[in-house]
Amino acid sequence: MAEIKLEKIQKSFGDFTAVRSSSFTINDGEFFVLLGPSGCGKTTTLRMIAGLELPTSGTMLLDGEDVTFKRASQRDIGFVFQMFALYPHMKVWENIGFPLKCEGLAKAEIRQRVEEVAKLLRIEHLLDLGVGGLAGGDSQRVALGRAIVRRTAKAFMMDEPLGALDTEFRHLMCTELRGLHDRIKATTVYVTHDQVEAMAMADRIAVMNHGVVDQIGTPQEIYDRPLTVHVAAFIGSPAMNFLRFKGTVEAGQTSVRMNGSAEVAVPKLHEGVRDGELSLGVRSEHITLTSEGGVRGEVYGAEYMGTTQIVTINTHHGQVKARIPSDVKVTTGESVGLNFQNERLVMFDMTSGKALRSDLYEGVKHV
Ligand SMILES: Nc1ncnc2c1ncn2[C@@H]1O[C@H](COP(=O)(O)OP(=O)(O)OP(=O)(O)O)[C@@H](O)[C@H]1O
Ligand SMILES: [Mg+2]
Repeated sequence: MAEIKLEKIQKSFGDFTAVRSSSFTINDGEFFVLLGPSGCGKTTTLRMIAGLELPTSGTMLLDGEDVTFKRASQRDIGFVFQMFALYPHMKVWENIGFPLKCEGLAKAEIRQRVEEVAKLLRIEHLLDLGVGGLAGGDSQRVALGRAIVRRTAKAFMMDEPLGALDTEFRHLMCTELRGLHDRIKATTVYVTHDQVEAMAMADRIAVMNHGVVDQIGTPQEIYDRPLTVHVAAFIGSPAMNFLRFKGTVEAGQTSVRMNGSAEVAVPKLHEGVRDGELSLGVRSEHITLTSEGGVRGEVYGAEYMGTTQIVTINTHHGQVKARIPSDVKVTTGESVGLNFQNERLVMFDMTSGKALRSDLYEGVKHV
């Protein structure tokens, strides 16, 4: 198994830069997720790691060895594609065992190894069938099986392997894939644009945007302490709220006054902005409603979620979604105040798109 290190990796297609100077290390045995919207450069990054695409500049190290100019076949990396292609004329077990056949293993040994993998993926009963009639989920399991059957692979690359599945089955496969990883502990790089999937599966996530890695961290770090507006808006459902206002904030400040609203305590700021477009970032579950005081707003509607409800409130600073217990009565048009869990608040400079450093961010590494 392997540690993967990218140093200033860049990829351009003509004069378009798909991946811009990425530097990060994927630890040995880690389940690492590349997350971001369509076109942000996830597949391109993955293909460069696998050796299917040469970087325009930068260096790729596999266990300390420079593999930048090594072909995919020399890197020992297993790859599961977005569009999984099985060999239609082969049976399930032959599909899974194909990489072993290429390595020249004897038929009996191939069959035995395929059976082990099939057991992990719970498809033992399908081994002697053709692949033509398989349901989508089973085809995907076969494709996964083919990727993991080579135990010598140093790492596995998975490009939206669950993309073609329906929601319920996807969820099940997420759990299975993560369970599989916990058993084989192989370094895995997993691409998805689905933040729920990323949060559920990753040891660490790299959030990408327009070819740039915005932030790398554990799911909790990224959720609680987003470094950019993009990360804050991309992660969580509902996404983080942004209460917008114009003004000046200074390093050392422990509260902000948004024009026209009550003063709000915030984690001590380490940097400031003069006459800027600012936002107070707050997660929906860090808001409580009060009849008196707080940042005032008017209830626009409520969405029942079971134990909680998402209440939409119009304020001077934009629309805000609050997640509160569903037994709290709210009425459309009612005037309410918002109180926050102040130690969780994030200040954003909307011009740079970055979070201002504060006590909340102690220990968080900038990319
Ligand atoms: N061979 C290529 N030639 C030209 N442009 C390319 C090529 N491959 C990718 N691109 C462009 O690079 C950008 C990043 O593509 P990439 O496939 O890495 O995105 P992605 O994050 O995987 O997106 P998706 O979620 O849609 O799969 C896109 O704008 C894409 O059009
Ligand atoms: Mg892609």
